Amino acid sequence: MKVVRTIKEMHKLRQSELIKTVGFVPTMGYLHEGHTSLMNKAATENDLVVASIFVNPLQFGPNEDYDTYPRDELRDQRIAKENGVDILFLPDATEMYPQRMNVTLSISKRTNVLCGAKRSGHFAGVITVLTKLFNIVQPTTAYFGLKDAQQVAVVDSLIADLNIPVTLIGEATVREADGLAKSSRNVYLSTAERAEATKLYDALLYGLNLFKNGQQPNEHLITSVREFLQDQVSGSIDYVNLLSYPDLEPVTENSEQMILAVAVNFEHARLIDNIIFDNSGTIVNTITF
Ligand code: PAJ
Repeated sequence: MKVVRTIKEMHKLRQSELIKTVGFVPTMGYLHEGHTSLMNKAATENDLVVASIFVNPLQFGPNEDYDTYPRDELRDQRIAKENGVDILFLPDATEMYPQRMNVTLSISKRTNVLCGAKRSGHFAGVITVLTKLFNIVQPTTAYFGLKDAQQVAVVDSLIADLNIPVTLIGEATVREADGLAKSSRNVYLSTAERAEATKLYDALLYGLNLFKNGQQPNEHLITSVREFLQDQVSGSIDYVNLLSYPDLEPVTENSEQMILAVAVNFEHARLIDNIIFDNSGTIVNTITF
């Protein structure tokens, strides 16, 4: 595995390689099985796998955890190498943002709900760094986790609107044995919070069961899931919502796929989780856009 820290070298490598397919896995590091499942998938489907690790300051709000976001570069290099990555792109902040950006990107759809509603500027920061990374790496396919399903929906809009020549794949959420979605931020949880954190997934499955048992996908179902969750966690619920996917609009009878999503603020970590399912209540694990 080659570690590359500059855009110039990444471009040079990309152009010198006589390769057909490049799979790309962008991350912010502190790698876990959620990330490595994307790397391994990319390795089975491409001639070359590029992963990036960059904690992107643009997507963190002023009171969020940019400074304390967990980082462990040497461990990450070992994990990436063991999971099929050929090139690990590891730029620092001045390499990615040498000066203030003269160009800004913003996104107006799919962002006024769920995580976008309260994290203003977050998805603008995400699409800005991803546009840069797509131009730097020039992948043929990019792999993202459906754990961050709204991010996948936003990237789908970015790629479609700007005609970026990359195929987008959303992959299944990787979970701990007890159901908690793997996240770099899980390390912040206290023992008591870690025990409660499994209730996010329980609440999603509870909601799915209500749907399968004939409950309409409406406010009543959302309220039932919210009440279930409220009873089980000490953290404060940021949102519980049921929307069409990937448009993230209110569910209608024409919606083919729905997302049931929750976010809970614990003392030191904000956890999110979701499930995507079709009209028959079957969970959708992988989406190729
Ligand atoms: P990060 O949180 O490091 O996540 C990198 C990728 O791993 C994302 O596509 C995310 O959805 C996926 N991922 C995280 N946990 C997962 C899990 N439990 N199961 C499956 N996939 C999982 O998302 C970001 O970084 C950043 O916003 C980024 C896209 C790199 C832009 O800065």
